[in-house]
Amino acid sequence: MRSVNIAILGCGNVGKYVVKNLFELRNFIKEKFSLDINVKKILVRDKQKERIAEGFKIPQHLLTTHFSEIIDSSPDIVVELIGDLENSRTYIRECLNRGIKVVTANKLVLTFDDEIFQNPNVFFDASVGGGIPIIRTIINSVPDDIYEITGILNGTTNFILSYMEEGKDFQESLELAKKLGYAEPDPSFDINGTDAAQKICILSALVFGVRVRPNEILKEGISFITKLDIDFAREFGYSIRSIAISRKKNYEGEEKLEVAVYPALVPSDSPLAQVKGNLNAAVIKGKRIGELFLKGEGAGGNPTSISIIADIIEASLTYRESKKEFLAPNDKLIHHDMMVSKFYVRLSVVDNPGVLAKIADSFGKNNVSIESVLQKGRGITISEPVPIFIITHECLERDIKRALEECSRLDVVLQTPFYLRIYQ
Ligand SMILES: NC(=O)c1ccc[n+]([C@@H]2O[C@H](COP(=O)([O-])OP(=O)(O)OC[C@H]3O[C@@H](n4cnc5c(N)ncnc54)[C@H](OP(=O)(O)O)[C@@H]3O)[C@@H](O)[C@H]2O)c1
Repeated sequence: MRSVNIAILGCGNVGKYVVKNLFELRNFIKEKFSLDINVKKILVRDKQKERIAEGFKIPQHLLTTHFSEIIDSSPDIVVELIGDLENSRTYIRECLNRGIKVVTANKLVLTFDDEIFQNPNVFFDASVGGGIPIIRTIINSVPDDIYEITGILNGTTNFILSYMEEGKDFQESLELAKKLGYAEPDPSFDINGTDAAQKICILSALVFGVRVRPNEILKEGISFITKLDIDFAREFGYSIRSIAISRKKNYEGEEKLEVAVYPALVPSDSPLAQVKGNLNAAVIKGKRIGELFLKGEGAGGNPTSISIIADIIEASLTYRESKKEFLAPNDKLIHHDMMVSKFYVRLSVVDNPGVLAKIADSFGKNNVSIESVLQKGRGITISEPVPIFIITHECLERDIKRALEECSRLDVVLQTPFYLRIYQ
């Protein structure tokens, strides 16, 4: 039996569950892995605060407000669960310089600090997908040529979109997400796709070895999705989900990468459409293994702590020597104008004969062919706007944009056309 000393930085939502579950699972880990894991010290800001996780009270004598006491406790592994950028990165670097392995759930540090991200003795399964072992699966369990990873990596946006399926509008759904604690008081990084963009960039580096930055990829939020889009997507056989996608594409004879975050129509009978509420999921596609699907709790102290504990066990059992090496994206990324997709289009038009012919003409001139059209309800007067919904066949994004620019100049089109990509 090997004894492993742990120190933890931060004892908030996740930290306190890590402590509780390390106590609860101590015997299980001893039996299964021959490891005796001891929590030696926990760094916090406020030592007086009472910390309880499901009735388990964090032992007061473990708490400290001095980082020096963390080092003095001679940890084999430090678990960083503070979650900011500057303090966390300073502490992590200090630990690594002293030869202490680090487990962290901090996607900010991984996004902005290459040295920490590349260090082989930093373990970070919980930084993407909370309690779902997405990173562990792609690193340890799929020795295959993975050619795509697509995920629902933000629980807040998924909660909002799936609640909108029950007939609510965006604002009502956001308010409920806040009330239930699924959205931060300022949820902009979730809503505008930043959080998922950071996560898919971490996954892209691990799967494809290319260090893509969140500001280099296409990133679209969900605030423009209306109830009408949800309803008509359903009529066409789709659900709308905010997806984060990283996949290899052959582009003009070269292997390139498509990396993006956007709300997309996904077939209603697909596994991604079945991801409801604040859950997360990932589809991993490999040349030999086929398609894997992981779904579960993307946040929350209890599930996330299990990913952290899995990392603690792995860090206890392994020593990795070689630094993770990543390529710069250079010309690897496909510009989104060159991405090929089917599209969903919503247009607001006057209810006159011949309107559809004019729209179809603009599409046709720009190499976009129409798969299906839906028009529901007529205006009370002939000049009242009515929505038209179109699904296209596959085409370049550049071409649908050109077609819609042309449509928006037609006198029969009343508002800027809106489009979404269809995930296939
Ligand atoms: N919450 C989730 O469901 C979830 C899911 C996946 C990943 N994560 C990641 O897990 C990490 C922790 O998240 P969390 O939700 O547990 O955060 P949290 O509830 O805000 O807890 C942060 C903890 O860090 C301590 N802390 C903050 N600044 C400190 C400083 N300068 N010195 C010492 N201690 C400091 C706080 O101490 P006090 O308590 O004394 O204020 C608190 O205990 C983040 O990186 C987050 O992105 C969270």
